[in-house]
Amino acid sequence: MFKIVKKQKLAEDTFLMEIESPEIAKKAKAGQFIILRIDEKGERIPLTIADHSKRTITIVFLVVGETTKQLASLRKGDKLLDFVGPLGNPSDIKEYGTVCLVGGGLGIAPIYSIGKALKKSKNNIITIIGAKTKKHLFWEDRFKKISHKLIICTDDGSKGIKGFVSNALKNLMEEERINLVIAIGPPIMMKVISDITKDRIKTIASLNPIMIDGMGMCGVCRVIVDETVKFACSDGPEFDAHKIEWDELMNRNKMYAEEEQCNNQKCVKK
Ligand SMILES: Cc1cc2nc3c(=O)[nH]c(=O)nc-3n(C[C@H](O)[C@H](O)[C@H](O)COP(=O)(O)OP(=O)(O)OC[C@H]3O[C@@H](n4cnc5c(N)ncnc54)[C@H](O)[C@@H]3O)c2cc1C
Ligand code: FES
Repeated sequence: MFKIVKKQKLAEDTFLMEIESPEIAKKAKAGQFIILRIDEKGERIPLTIADHSKRTITIVFLVVGETTKQLASLRKGDKLLDFVGPLGNPSDIKEYGTVCLVGGGLGIAPIYSIGKALKKSKNNIITIIGAKTKKHLFWEDRFKKISHKLIICTDDGSKGIKGFVSNALKNLMEEERINLVIAIGPPIMMKVISDITKDRIKTIASLNPIMIDGMGMCGVCRVIVDETVKFACSDGPEFDAHKIEWDELMNRNKMYAEEEQCNNQKCVKK
């Protein structure tokens, strides 16, 4: 069992938890993720390692459905049945020059640990983060510490620039010489960013398809990259954004929409 040693509400529907897990914490690197299960009846859900200390792993999650809702109802001192990781390949941390991090919605937390590691490797960091409203934003203070420039966007204009992170990136590309873009967020956001940077800037996207085992065995997280079948969990989760077949990925993600809706409404499928 894995104890929740800290719980904090970061923003609207967004929670941080620190989970005691020294074995995972010893090995965790930026860009990797864990899979957790709350109890024996629970679903397995993947969440990125947002930060770690010697004994704990920090996860940050957005409440979107049944499992994340149940997770948000837990308190400090409660325990999780399964907490498996670190899974996936770490980010390729080296000196690139100027790196632009783009985090949208639930991508804000995962991009932070990558940015922190890249800053340590002497990169110049520019960060663009975006959310629905100012109530959904968090960690501006953390990003300010690692970024040479921080651009904030909200869909409704309640903070920063009104509009999507992709528009902010487009404008930034006119002003700055960027050597690498790393995007994490909803697939449609990453696809648009990939289209904007194509033939201009190397771009990495961290994919978040449905996952079950997270170890390359079930095949559920299959994605097509460079015309080859890859598993996002064991070959990724980061890939060259310009080689990903985005439409196929988005269609696959929709395949389970009915089951998730059904699960959230506790209905019985005929
Ligand atoms: C590698 C990876 C890292 C992720 N990191 C984060 C993170 O740091 N913070 C965060 O808030 N979210 C993260 N996610 C997404 C997170 O796993 C889903 O939000 C969560 O599984 C939703 O479960 P639910 O039961 O609450 O919602 P549901 O109602 O079951 O699903 C809502 C949506 O969540 C996604 N989802 C559902 N089940 C899974 C699953 N088993 N695997 C992947 N996606 C699923 C689907 O897009 C679905 O439409 C990550 C996903 C992946 C694959
Ligand atoms: S989650 Fe099963 S192969 Fe990736």
